[in-house]
Amino acid sequence: MEEERERWGSKFGFIMATMGSAVGLGNIWMFSYRCGRCGGAAFLIPYLIILFLVGIIGLMVEWTLGRKNKAGVLDSLINCGFPGGKYLGWIPIINVFLIFSFYAVIEGWCMKYMVMSLSGELMAIDPGPYFGNFVSSYEPLIWLAIGIIATVTINSFGVKKGIERACKFMMPLLLVLVVILMIRSLTLPGAEAGIAFFTKPDLSKITWDVWLNAAGQIFFSLSLVGSTMVVYGSYLRPKDDIPGSALIVALGNTAIALMCGFVIFPAVFSFGLDPASGPSLAFITLSSIFQQMVGGRFFAFLFFLLLFIAALSSDVSMMEPVTEVFVSHFKLGRKKVTLLLGFLAFLVGIPCALLGWFLDLLASVVTTMILAPIGGIIVAVALAWFVGVKHAREEVNEGASIKMGKWWEPYVKYIYPAIILVILILGILSCFGIFEATW
Ligand code: PFF
Repeated sequence: MEEERERWGSKFGFIMATMGSAVGLGNIWMFSYRCGRCGGAAFLIPYLIILFLVGIIGLMVEWTLGRKNKAGVLDSLINCGFPGGKYLGWIPIINVFLIFSFYAVIEGWCMKYMVMSLSGELMAIDPGPYFGNFVSSYEPLIWLAIGIIATVTINSFGVKKGIERACKFMMPLLLVLVVILMIRSLTLPGAEAGIAFFTKPDLSKITWDVWLNAAGQIFFSLSLVGSTMVVYGSYLRPKDDIPGSALIVALGNTAIALMCGFVIFPAVFSFGLDPASGPSLAFITLSSIFQQMVGGRFFAFLFFLLLFIAALSSDVSMMEPVTEVFVSHFKLGRKKVTLLLGFLAFLVGIPCALLGWFLDLLASVVTTMILAPIGGIIVAVALAWFVGVKHAREEVNEGASIKMGKWWEPYVKYIYPAIILVILILGILSCFGIFEATW
């Protein structure tokens, strides 16, 4: 059985697939609206601190658990004797499936806007009312179905021939698109105000709320939900470099998020619009910018194509931990499993597509603030306490270009799970309105 387990074809392929997972709507859409609401550059300080304190370590922890057990999260928990593992292992798997369902809805919006910019329709609409009418109609269901079909198609081909191959094509294209859009935005008249907003921090804006937003952003953005990165780690070969890859992916993901900030804020300021408009920033604010910009239709197409590629490569990674359970644990055929999961995701996606409050609830509260940190803690405890930090450190250092020293053991055993626990508690308090968070 172990011999049959799929593997990444190359280090480059693994990095592209993981970057594909990490770089998504979280980097472009969520990062920019959160950053806009949380005072621009002020957001970047907690963001970078949390990236170094927990983001990079988090990738190592999740990949190491997967590679050590050559299994996704459910079988890893069972293998290492985690109490109640065969039940608790489902939490991060169900969570990522819920994320997949609402995420595919927003991916559908991107496709719709991409097609509208291609046809030129985007140039003639009144962006605010148009978006409102669109999301309250049945049309998003059609786009949801198309997004899910695209994901199912890629995943049905497997790890190397499906996910890795698609990401090796999509990620370089994504980088080219970001660079073109960034050059366009930075050369707009009045772009300096946006650059200042994004680079000159006002320290008084860094409240607890901003810290919580930054933490949520890092976990979501690096796909640290306790299942996706575990299963991606399980396809690594023993000689692959876990710490080196974690550094590349964390920094690469941040670089793309920052570049997206340099796409969005200079344009928003150049046209005198509000950077703090929240989730509608990409669909309403930017649409009205494209309408006024020279070459707007072309750049709108590139922007929504960028969003679509980013979303699709992340969707693919969300489907994999769920697919893997049914393929490895229940020994079912991949093609059948992906089809069935696609159908189920569509069913869960229906209320997300039709009811705004349901989408909000699932996207912010349930999946990111509560279930994601729970998944993160389960994985950290499984690795540090049940596999054991000594074995974990041997595993993370296997094939590593930068070896983790003794400090790594207490860090992963106590500090890393404790930080996630604090994030979970603050998240829960904010759900009850005891602690305020802007999601
Ligand atoms: N990292 C993705 C983003 O930033 O949009 C979202 C994501 C992908 C979350 C995969 C969780 C996951 F398992």
